[in-house]
Amino acid sequence: MGSELGFETLERETRIEALPVEGEIPEWLGGSLLRTGPAKFEVGTRGMSHWFDGLAMLHRFGFAGGRVSYANRFLESRAYRAAAETGEISYSEFATDPCRSLFKRAMSLFRPALSDNGNVNLVQLGERFAAMTETPIPVEFDPETLAAAGVAWEVPGTLTTAHPHLDRANGGMLNYAAALGPRNHYRFFGLGPGTGDEPRVLATLPTREPAYMHSFGLTERWFVLAEYPFVVNPLALALSGRPYIENYRWKPERGTRFTLLARDGGEVLGPFETDACFGFHHVNAYAEPDGTVVADVCTFADAEIVESLYLGNLRNGAAIPAPELTRFTISPGPGTVTSERLIADPIDLPRIDYGRCNERPHRYVWGAGTDGTGFFDRIVRADLADRSSTTWSEADCWPGEPVFVSRPDASGEGDGVLLSLVLDGAAGTTILLVLDARTLDEIGRAQVPHHIPFGFHGQYAAAV
Ligand code: CO
Repeated sequence: MGSELGFETLERETRIEALPVEGEIPEWLGGSLLRTGPAKFEVGTRGMSHWFDGLAMLHRFGFAGGRVSYANRFLESRAYRAAAETGEISYSEFATDPCRSLFKRAMSLFRPALSDNGNVNLVQLGERFAAMTETPIPVEFDPETLAAAGVAWEVPGTLTTAHPHLDRANGGMLNYAAALGPRNHYRFFGLGPGTGDEPRVLATLPTREPAYMHSFGLTERWFVLAEYPFVVNPLALALSGRPYIENYRWKPERGTRFTLLARDGGEVLGPFETDACFGFHHVNAYAEPDGTVVADVCTFADAEIVESLYLGNLRNGAAIPAPELTRFTISPGPGTVTSERLIADPIDLPRIDYGRCNERPHRYVWGAGTDGTGFFDRIVRADLADRSSTTWSEADCWPGEPVFVSRPDASGEGDGVLLSLVLDGAAGTTILLVLDARTLDEIGRAQVPHHIPFGFHGQYAAAV
């Protein structure tokens, strides 16, 4: 068995007080690693089409005194409840639509049945936690019981990202939303941490053909919008009757366009154009004293990666395109964008020492890597001080996103651990791996008794 097991359904929900541990789990880890990800890839007799379609499951690894507890539970979204009640896929996912009569399809133009299947990422906002996907319906959940608690907050748009940034000014979040209709706008909005706080639109930019947007960059002054030439005609999105992502078109002649939008709602600089590429994940961004903006992004040559992540390809062990850690340097004065590859190792699902480095220069980037012959099979640490990289890998082991957790009394950037879920293909189970973040030396691991399907993102919550 290889990586294919990571795309098979996990039905079992469980709570385990203490997982078997090898090595040491640091005593200072006292919170929880919360993760979401697709876990159910068929409903009734129908299968989902794409990795991004699977019904979301929440996972919690709780740390206390060197022990690790584990719990998992399906996210009781309306999409999940409808599937459970009707035995059918009832909401439109990324690349899988429900079977609909012509009449229902016509009706859905006016009342689109947006899925709230929060399988991409989760966020803590004040006291609340929400599981998110790219529709504007974040689902609140209890981090202890993992029970869902309805719509978390309002999002001012039709599409959003599951990669909000921290608003350092108030502890709230900053995110992107696209408003689609007769006229289309990219929007950035802020939402304070209080339960009564309302979203405030901070910056907008009109667009005729919105680009697929999975994340964005943030500096102390700017929202950094990267429009890759993977774009949609919103009318086609409404009328085509095809699953969401199938409406996007690769138009490399448009190039990649960077626009800087002031966080205070004033200036808009750009667009500044460079060669066509595609990416899901901004790594980090910051401004140089001269006003130059540096944006690190995990990029692909084109949007082929979206195609490669259909379950049919992944279950056949097909290779995913290799993501490159690319630095874009945006000079608003002359209006130029230059790009360079920072390390040779492919890397995506990137994390940084966020609390220390977001909006500021960073030295380390951690992520999942691949040798180009299959799925993600290693953890990569890039050290941008000398553009070197180090990897962790084991035979037939398939790691996911490494989440960085800073030591409480950290001596500097990168002083802490990485937490990554690793599918052990030979054993058919998943381990929680704990690595020293700077060296990638293994510190310890905790054994889950079953496999956990590959997910995308999670967060460490210190107080849960
Ligand atoms: Co993502």
